[in-house]
Amino acid sequence: NAARKPLLAANWKMNKTPEEALSFWHEFSGRLSGETGRVEVVICPPYPALPALQGADLRARGVYLGAQNVHWESRGAFTGEVSPGMLRAVGCSHVIVGHSERRAYFGESDEAVKRKLRAALEEGMTPILCVGETLEQRTAGRAEEVVAAQLTAALEGLDTGRAARVVVAYEPVWAIGTGRSAESRDAGEMAAAVRRRLRELAGPAAEEIRILYGGSVAPDNFAQFLAEAEVDGGLVGTASLRPESFFALVASA
Ligand code: G3P
Repeated sequence: NAARKPLLAANWKMNKTPEEALSFWHEFSGRLSGETGRVEVVICPPYPALPALQGADLRARGVYLGAQNVHWESRGAFTGEVSPGMLRAVGCSHVIVGHSERRAYFGESDEAVKRKLRAALEEGMTPILCVGETLEQRTAGRAEEVVAAQLTAALEGLDTGRAARVVVAYEPVWAIGTGRSAESRDAGEMAAAVRRRLRELAGPAAEEIRILYGGSVAPDNFAQFLAEAEVDGGLVGTASLRPESFFALVASA
């Protein structure tokens, strides 16, 4: 869809020191020549690498900085947590919320995801809301229902002006880090179901919301996902760790 700018986000997860992040950036940015005019490119490193990348020329090259998580409170006795304002202060414009690894390994509830999303919007950031079903849920024929419920929990009641800024990443849990991506047709069908749910939740703002696919995205399969009408980009783990493969994705978007 031409009205929505494609978005490609690198989720490095728990990988790369500040030094490694900078060396990635130097190699990656050396390849860029105008791609960021057509594609919104976001790099989400671990927290300690954020200041290093803030000090590099990402913005000048049209690339955005994002975080992988955030807390909803602005300050206080929350050991180990980081607030939206703190992320802004180190240059983050985007933040991933509700990644399935956070939901599964760190007990993040729908309620927590909703608070994080709202706090990020309040701070003027772009939240990348992750949703997706497990293999068990897909096999039981419940994939759409699960994803719809995650969307409702996170977005219900949001004013439409804010809703338009949200990005949704559909990441089927069984496709993450497995080298086994979804079939592009299944991803396209789910993206269409997401769009329908977004229309119910956010009205006309739904047309502005970017829907990404994530789960074993690689240079040789990305074009198929992008060809699906309701897929507006990708959220990439493994293939975002090497500058050449992440650049190949950016170039093909
Ligand atoms: O958030 C991106 C992610 O979960 C997908 O990881 O390694 O399958 O691209 P990967």
